[in-house]
Amino acid sequence: MDQSEKKIIIITGTVLALFIFSILYARGRNNDLPECLPFDKAYLEPKVTQLDNKTYQVFAVAQMWQFQPTQIYIPVGSEVDFFLTSKDVVHGFNISEKNVNMMAVYGNINKSTVKFDKPGVYKITCHEYCGVGHQAMQAEVIVNDPSYK
Ligand code: CUA
Repeated sequence: MDQSEKKIIIITGTVLALFIFSILYARGRNNDLPECLPFDKAYLEPKVTQLDNKTYQVFAVAQMWQFQPTQIYIPVGSEVDFFLTSKDVVHGFNISEKNVNMMAVYGNINKSTVKFDKPGVYKITCHEYCGVGHQAMQAEVIVNDPSYK
């Protein structure tokens, strides 16, 4: 084998390994990739359920021009599964300061898991134009630090 061929193979292998590593790293570090789940009418009822003291499920419903639930209270350090759907047109679902970017689509469920390590108010905004009330369409995740109580 030629010296330059060997070089190319080593470079290609290194780049490929870096690429695979970065995908796995990002996946483990931020949150899982949004996934689509089979639709069920039960998802059209907005609610927050607690699985254990650090795990929550939020069933978020988008409709012109609001998200429900509007305010989601969770303790700091919680991991939250967001299940998202829409009652009408396509809406966006973006949580500021978190790597969450989902679409709310009627007849579809999108899911994303997020960990909230820092207390604060995280705005949820609709980032897909959905009509005249679009710019006012928002909700918030309120993450409490129990030591402030
Ligand atoms: Cu809903 Cu824009």
